Amino acid sequence: MFKAQSVAITGAQGGIGRALAEMFISNGANVSISDLSDPKDVGEKIGAVSFKCDVSNENDIKNFILGSENINGPIDIFVSNAGVGYGDPKHAADASNEYWELSWKINVMSSVYASRCLIPGMRKRGSGRFVITASAAGLLSQIGSSSYTATKHAAVGFAESLAIRHWDEGIKTHCICPQYVKTNMTKGMRMAEGHQDGLLEPEDVAEALKNSISEDKFMVLSHPVVGDYFKNKANNYEAYIRGMNKLKQKLGSNQLPD
Ligand SMILES: NC(=O)c1ccc[n+]([C@@H]2O[C@H](COP(=O)([O-])OP(=O)(O)OC[C@H]3O[C@@H](n4cnc5c(N)ncnc54)[C@H](O)[C@@H]3O)[C@@H](O)[C@H]2O)c1
Repeated sequence: MFKAQSVAITGAQGGIGRALAEMFISNGANVSISDLSDPKDVGEKIGAVSFKCDVSNENDIKNFILGSENINGPIDIFVSNAGVGYGDPKHAADASNEYWELSWKINVMSSVYASRCLIPGMRKRGSGRFVITASAAGLLSQIGSSSYTATKHAAVGFAESLAIRHWDEGIKTHCICPQYVKTNMTKGMRMAEGHQDGLLEPEDVAEALKNSISEDKFMVLSHPVVGDYFKNKANNYEAYIRGMNKLKQKLGSNQLPD
């Protein structure tokens, strides 16, 4: 197993973030968690320190990092996990500018802010890890949410840039790309419940991350089938677009996220 002394995780009041926190704690790490409001109760329950941090705000991210480092020491692993998704009820460009801007800030810029703050220290120490919870939608597509799809593609792109620029300096990046996971985000989503590839538990994602860290692997595929879909997309983009359009027709508008 990997050795991590100090871990900080955003968007960790529940769902995937909390499961990741519990996985790190059970592997001996000192963990800080944060969310839009301070997840104090969760922190006390699982044994993590907790902070309030709105990840769309660069100062909040800095304060979360400084606060964590004051208590747990230099961050070994930063997990950029907070995320949002908004549907397009009428057509692909239907979500409001406000939702697009929020998606951009929360799903992409939050990781830029955290890395900007942490890279100089990690470089000096010659070690560190970034984990970005992107999505299978960042490799494929979330039918019915173009803002989610576009910003999760950007999240994967930023994770690739981090890995390519800094891997040789000892700074590793891991990009988590799950399909549907049973959390608040998928509650009541008909597309997710009963999905052919399964609705995972957040703990399954944590286990996949643990294995990828142990093996120093960039891509974390809690649903391995996503790797096959991605290969098929690269092999035949035209068939991918037609197939996804057929899937959209099959789903019908009443199953798309709104
Ligand atoms: N559940 C899934 O099926 C699934 C699949 C792929 C990827 N993901 C990604 O996993 C991550 C975690 O989501 P989840 O499924 O656990 O759902 P979740 O709703 O339980 O967790 C998302 C968390 O992000 C927090 N958050 C939202 N805006 C924030 C902000 N501005 N600042 C700080 N925190 C904020 C929310 O309060 C929430 O606690 C997200 O990035 C999501 O896009 C989820």
